[in-house]
Amino acid sequence: MNTQLLFDSLKIKSIIGSLPESVDHIEVDSRAVQPNTVFFCIKGHTTDGHDHAQSAIEKGATVIVAEKELELDADQVALVVVRNTSRALAHIANHFYQFPSKNMNVIGVTGTNGKTSVTNLIHQLIRRGGEGSALSGTIGFDLDGTLYASANTTSDIITTQRMLVKAREADVSNMVFEVSSHGLIEGRLWGVDFDVVTFTNLTHDHLDFHGTMEHYGYAKGLLFSQLGQDLTKPKYAVLNVDDEWFDQYASMTPFEVISYSMEKPADFFATNIVYLDDRTEFLMHSPEGEFQVETQLLGIFNVSNVLAAIATLYATGESVSSLVERLKEIPPISGRMELVQTSAPLSIYIDYAHTPDAIEKAIQSVMPFKKNRILFLVGTGGNRDKSKRPTMAEKASLADYVVLTTDDPRYESYDSILTDLEKGMKHEQYALIGDREEAVRHIMEIAEPDDIIIFAGKGHEDYQIIENTKYPHSDREIALSVAETRF
Ligand SMILES: Nc1ncnc2c1ncn2[C@@H]1O[C@H](COP(=O)(O)OP(=O)(O)OP(=O)(O)O)[C@@H](O)[C@H]1O
Ligand SMILES: [Mg+2]
Repeated sequence: MNTQLLFDSLKIKSIIGSLPESVDHIEVDSRAVQPNTVFFCIKGHTTDGHDHAQSAIEKGATVIVAEKELELDADQVALVVVRNTSRALAHIANHFYQFPSKNMNVIGVTGTNGKTSVTNLIHQLIRRGGEGSALSGTIGFDLDGTLYASANTTSDIITTQRMLVKAREADVSNMVFEVSSHGLIEGRLWGVDFDVVTFTNLTHDHLDFHGTMEHYGYAKGLLFSQLGQDLTKPKYAVLNVDDEWFDQYASMTPFEVISYSMEKPADFFATNIVYLDDRTEFLMHSPEGEFQVETQLLGIFNVSNVLAAIATLYATGESVSSLVERLKEIPPISGRMELVQTSAPLSIYIDYAHTPDAIEKAIQSVMPFKKNRILFLVGTGGNRDKSKRPTMAEKASLADYVVLTTDDPRYESYDSILTDLEKGMKHEQYALIGDREEAVRHIMEIAEPDDIIIFAGKGHEDYQIIENTKYPHSDREIALSVAETRF
């Protein structure tokens, strides 16, 4: 690609050395640099790309983009100094990959809880309608049915652009992004031309990173401002009326707002909700009339998630009646109120609840079909937002019996985690067991017929991180092995 053209969109502070006529690659990770690469020095949390410029040159970088002058050999490489390398990267990556998001239908979903669930629903509904869809999120990058691993819920600028390119090359015209607040604050989605952006909810999480709920809410709101101001193309924000951030987010965009709610009249809202232990049914009111909805997804929050997904695809032009038909076939989402198949006389659910709000909703979800007790196991991660711990346990107290444990303790001691959790307990029926395997065994040992057991926090994850090592761990397998010996 012509180097001059690539840099034309930027106001450059200075260039030292001369730019090569053309370049073949762009990169932010010095280890991945190949001959004739433009290397961007990005300041991260743990490393500063400026420290890796020299090793990028050794691997063949011919242009270094940095925020300051670096001592480099000008015969070997051109140094381009810009004000902000992340911003420069967003521009250049788009030029380099030829604006892949521009001609695609791009959907972004943000919120504290429900992002993975809603993006999965949207992705599957599109695919069941006969179109291709790519999905990027916590579970990885799913290119129309083929799953690739990814490091974060929201990937960096280059990885994001490359995913869009892969989708374009595979003739997939829909791309769904799960958007984290970290990703928004760090500008990882700069340059993605969204068509519809959807909000689930905002409740307590990640305050170790954001400090206050105001800042956290502001971070999520960036997604709505990223719809832009270009009214030549219809775009939509899909917002949850039940959340207090509705008005603020609506005010961040000139585009039309489509609303949904579980409690109040909105463009899409639910009444007559019936929670069953293998499916959920409700009457959905929509701009295209009323529909009886049936889904295999369980739990109160999934009614809200289904409304969000249907409203989002309605915004893209799909017919509501067809979406309702396709929804029936969609299986539960892995590790999200997922019922475990067992011959034991118990109902066992695997869920990913790791915030106070999600815990409360997970327990409330099984109350309608409670016959005996509700047993609830939850842990919290070490070296992460500690302020949510007591409230997590407080919400867990809604269950008849609670096991408090760990969920990736990292470098923190079991005692330190459990002491924080214990502070929030509202009744005496609980056990504190740091080792998660032992905790799962304990809850299974005390289970009685007709009990409902929820294992929360791990969801689809199949590991436990202790210090910096990932050990294989599956709540489901441990629970089933105990169930076999007991029932
Ligand atoms: N709409 C919702 N409201 C409240 N809680 C929800 C909602 N949807 C899901 N949950 C709860 O949150 C858990 C995580 O759901 P999901 O993985 O969809 O959220 P997420 O936003 O992707 O989370 P993460 O930020 O960890 O990626 C679920 O297992 C469930 O307990
Ligand atoms: Mg997620």
